[in-house]
Amino acid sequence: MLSGLTITRAAKSRIGEVDFENLPFGAVFSDHMFSMSYSEGRWGDPRIEPYGPISLDPGTAMLHYGQTVFDGLKAFRGVDGAARVFRPERNAARLRESAARLCIPPVEEEVFIGAIRQLIELDHRWLPRREGQALYIRPLLIGTEAHLDVRPDTTYRFLMMTAPVGAYFDQNSGGVSLKAEATYTRAAAKGGMGYAKTAGNYAAGMLATANARREGFDQVLWLDSEQHRFVEEVGAMNIFFKTAGAGGSGGSGGSVITPPLGGSILPGVTRDSVIALIRDRGLTVEERPIAIDEVMDGIAGGSIEEVFGAGTAAVIAPVERLEYLGRNETLKNVPGPLTLALYDEIVGIQTGRLPDRHGWNMIVPLPASEAAAPMAVSSG
Ligand code: COI
Repeated sequence: MLSGLTITRAAKSRIGEVDFENLPFGAVFSDHMFSMSYSEGRWGDPRIEPYGPISLDPGTAMLHYGQTVFDGLKAFRGVDGAARVFRPERNAARLRESAARLCIPPVEEEVFIGAIRQLIELDHRWLPRREGQALYIRPLLIGTEAHLDVRPDTTYRFLMMTAPVGAYFDQNSGGVSLKAEATYTRAAAKGGMGYAKTAGNYAAGMLATANARREGFDQVLWLDSEQHRFVEEVGAMNIFFKTAGAGGSGGSGGSVITPPLGGSILPGVTRDSVIALIRDRGLTVEERPIAIDEVMDGIAGGSIEEVFGAGTAAVIAPVERLEYLGRNETLKNVPGPLTLALYDEIVGIQTGRLPDRHGWNMIVPLPASEAAAPMAVSSG
């Protein structure tokens, strides 16, 4: 247990109000949240309390100037009844990197991981039981000082909440449709904060995403901010292109292309994991700039066979259609064999159905009564 942690339990659980058969993404939160405060140069007062509203002065500078970062990771109810948290130390590190970019004091990995363990132990009944579902963990760091000067705050709050979630993209829709954005950009040029998981990057994407949705697309495919030419990411996921000749599922000798991390792209934990799994299959992963014209021509000519996104919320999401400046290209055979195989493999590792050969999972034991009701899985 984290030293100095106090726990105040919710008087009444809200779990009975949740329809676990129809879980949307991020619409409902579990009973408890973790909270810690920073003042006079140090973090203190770690506590778990009932999930609920927090009070902020309207002059809180973070509300005006956006000094806030967050992260996202998932816990799964394993086939053996234990909970598995996927690569939490990577998210702890990324939160520290995001925080450093926004002058927010770092949260130690020990606290980050300890908070996750405590929340899962307390709210273990909220871990969904169906494959495709998970307990999404959302750590959030906010400045809390009321002032209108544009400078880093001197007080902060670290919150961690959990939410039982279903799929981010409709799993029955076949594939995601993307509009390559030719006008707006998500992140500023190199030297900006594109790699940080901070509110401003998501706010910057909302106008173009709303426009794209009105036109019938699911998401925007962001291009680089200087030339509007090179593919960056999808905002809620990193993007991968499998070229023909890369072999079918498990084949060898081919390649999968993904844009390199250059400061303007989010360093996705799922991105990193997927790169490792693709390489394990004997396929080459090229982290290199890829122009949108190369993508559109590749799909049209058949040299790009599969396009998929990878992210914590999105998992592995097949892309079916891309539009760029009025030109539409549709992938055949969606989801493709590599996309399907990677989805099955990563979900298999996350739920304990497949061996965790990279040692990615952090196991959190659940009470025996819970272990008797492990996650329902479909084989394959
Ligand atoms: C995640 O995948 O965890 C994210 O933060 C994406 C978010 C936009 C849902």
